[in-house]
Amino acid sequence: MNITVIGTGFVGVVTAAVYASFGHQVIGLDIDEQKIASLKKAKVPFYEPGLEELLQQQLAANQLNFTTNYETAIKNAQLIMIAVGTPSAPDGQADLRFVFASIKSLAPHLKKDAIVAVKSTVPPGTLNQVETLIGQHTKVNFYTASLPEFLKEGSAVDDTLQPDRIVIGANDQHVFTVLETLHQPFKTSIVKIKPESAQMAKYAANAYLATRITFINQIADLCEKNGADVQDVVAAIGLDSRIGPHYWYPGFGYGGSCFPKDVKELAAYSRAIGESNNLFNKIDDLNEERIPKLMQAVENKVGGWSDKTVAVLGLSFKPNTDDLRESPATKVIPLLLNKGAKVKSFDPMASWQSFFQLKALEPNHTQEKNIPSAVKNADVIISLVEWPQITGFDFTRTKLNKKQWFIDARNQFQPAVLKQAKYHYQGLGRG
Ligand code: UDX
Repeated sequence: MNITVIGTGFVGVVTAAVYASFGHQVIGLDIDEQKIASLKKAKVPFYEPGLEELLQQQLAANQLNFTTNYETAIKNAQLIMIAVGTPSAPDGQADLRFVFASIKSLAPHLKKDAIVAVKSTVPPGTLNQVETLIGQHTKVNFYTASLPEFLKEGSAVDDTLQPDRIVIGANDQHVFTVLETLHQPFKTSIVKIKPESAQMAKYAANAYLATRITFINQIADLCEKNGADVQDVVAAIGLDSRIGPHYWYPGFGYGGSCFPKDVKELAAYSRAIGESNNLFNKIDDLNEERIPKLMQAVENKVGGWSDKTVAVLGLSFKPNTDDLRESPATKVIPLLLNKGAKVKSFDPMASWQSFFQLKALEPNHTQEKNIPSAVKNADVIISLVEWPQITGFDFTRTKLNKKQWFIDARNQFQPAVLKQAKYHYQGLGRG
């Protein structure tokens, strides 16, 4: 099949490479010339395990091409997937201007009977607007679909190659038939539903997972006060087959490019349709309040930040990615600096300076190349992200002969081992 993917951000590049690997002729389209030039050399501006290798293979096999030219990319395409960004508008709802701009640019070049499928996360009702807009710019027959994306950063290639499910939202049997046939080689469940249901499924999945994380974070806060250990609570409840053992890891709140944005969007969408008093607004508030609240508790424990050297370990929002969007470090580090601490950070992959581009490191913040130099002289060590390089490090070797706090924000360490090494250990919900 001739497939064009519009938008070569995270989702677009992974999608283009994976569908090419299934033997389709894929074109990745973006208006950013520089991005396209580097993608043609299999270079991506972010770290995602296995992606550059897959790009190299597919480019070499001529299954995959990249262009900035709409006519070239669209005129032979049987399926066009829209994977452009949907940033948040000031009222919190999804800003769809890039979706509509790409639709206007592609529509005049559409081949007869092409399917335009929206992968970007958009609110229910958007496909009707897309359909009207295309109709205004073409005379050929066309179809539309909603194809929400569920991949996770850090395992995006595997998630796309082996998805838990493919959700196809459409109003037309022809679209279901074509897209079902396309996805049969993925050997997974295919859910065929209305576009509005597909769009709600995407928001519901992310909002549910964000709720689950917020729930266990709240349980951890209670455990902290009553002497229970949240890890034991998780082990106990996880054996209930209705609950399950996964995705229950407490921490400094959820981050990344999806959960915070999608929950805010669902909350704003709820408000816009008159459902303001629902769970999603509360979940968002609780997540926003989490880091200031936890950091205040840590500050009280360590006795203020003004004279402290703090090692912050883990800058990305989770392991196996260099993405700092909504990462705990982006909130913790400014807070520490504002309160007069000296910060030494470390991350195996993410760079603070390149993420914030022109904004140089603050005078009191240095990003160190390894853990030993980050923890040198530290009064407080905060392990924020469960990178294996951090959780596998033997901190008993670097213990200094002075009072040192160890804040285990993801409960990844053995409290007894660190306490025996004379750290003042503080996990989450380990009362
Ligand atoms: C998420 C969804 O999982 C994915 O299906 C969707 O398409 C995009 O959003 P991603 O943001 O890449 O993917 O990461 P994920 O691994 O789900 O983690 C999101 C956030 O939740 C991270 O900040 C992570 O640290 C946090 N988290 C996750 C917890 O705090 N506890 C958990 O138990 C799990």
